[in-house]
Amino acid sequence: MLKELWQYVSNTTENPIAKKMGFLSESIAMEARAKRCKQSWGVHYQNCQKAILQASLRSVQKRTVLVLGAGSLHDVPLGILSTQFDRVLLVDLVFLNSARSVAQQFTNVELIEYDITESLARIHIGLPMVDTPMAWLDDLSIDLVVSLNLITQLPLIPVRWLIEHFEFSEQEGDVLGKQLILAHLLYLQSFDGEVCLIADREGVEYNAEGQELDRFDPWWDIEPPKAITTWQWELMPLGEVDRNRSQKNRVGVSFL
Ligand SMILES: C[S@@+](CC[C@H](N)C(=O)[O-])C[C@H]1O[C@@H](n2cnc3c(N)ncnc32)[C@H](O)[C@@H]1O
Repeated sequence: MLKELWQYVSNTTENPIAKKMGFLSESIAMEARAKRCKQSWGVHYQNCQKAILQASLRSVQKRTVLVLGAGSLHDVPLGILSTQFDRVLLVDLVFLNSARSVAQQFTNVELIEYDITESLARIHIGLPMVDTPMAWLDDLSIDLVVSLNLITQLPLIPVRWLIEHFEFSEQEGDVLGKQLILAHLLYLQSFDGEVCLIADREGVEYNAEGQELDRFDPWWDIEPPKAITTWQWELMPLGEVDRNRSQKNRVGVSFL
């Protein structure tokens, strides 16, 4: 806990909204959980890296690769991408110091803190208007785009923010969640190069005996593109958050 507090003080983000809305503390908590769940999350990270390298094989030219939701970088095969591509652009709302020091080792890797929904500035003041993002669509050197465990996360903090600070109803939150997911899909489809979407498809909660308690759709009822490969991510091993509950998510890879 003390360590997480120290990280909150020592890590900075260029985007004050990201800090205020809770994205920085969420990244710190996620990094701590990744350490605690090293074994089960490691398999998921390896699968993500494999999928990105498969996507890279499909990319005819290798000028620029754009990774959206790069976050901790644990799921990015950075060394290989940096040798394969002229330029590696890693985008997230928040990069912790740990990710910054990894990225610094590569001269052609750029970390960019950016709100990929292009809507948070308005949502932050209670205006639930979702834009279709435009960033990098005019960069014709981008041969590969990876959306990395990001799309289903886009609505979570914004919807919670509007419910807690602006008395939004669950129904209003639901509409915003769907809009954010659809806008990201549309955005990905607007690129000319190869696009690889890695995202969870389903979450299942179990009790201590391994019996299923609940099953939920992280896509807010939006139909995800067909996955060409999937795996189980043991997101919450028993005892991580609750000693009587665990959660596994099915993660899928699509090429758009
Ligand atoms: C589940 S994490 C995945 C991160 C990374 N791929 C990993 O596994 O460590 C989701 C990431 O999405 C980022 N994110 C959430 N909303 C975002 C937004 N509007 N713009 C950019 N990044 C965002 C979070 O900061 C977080 O790093």
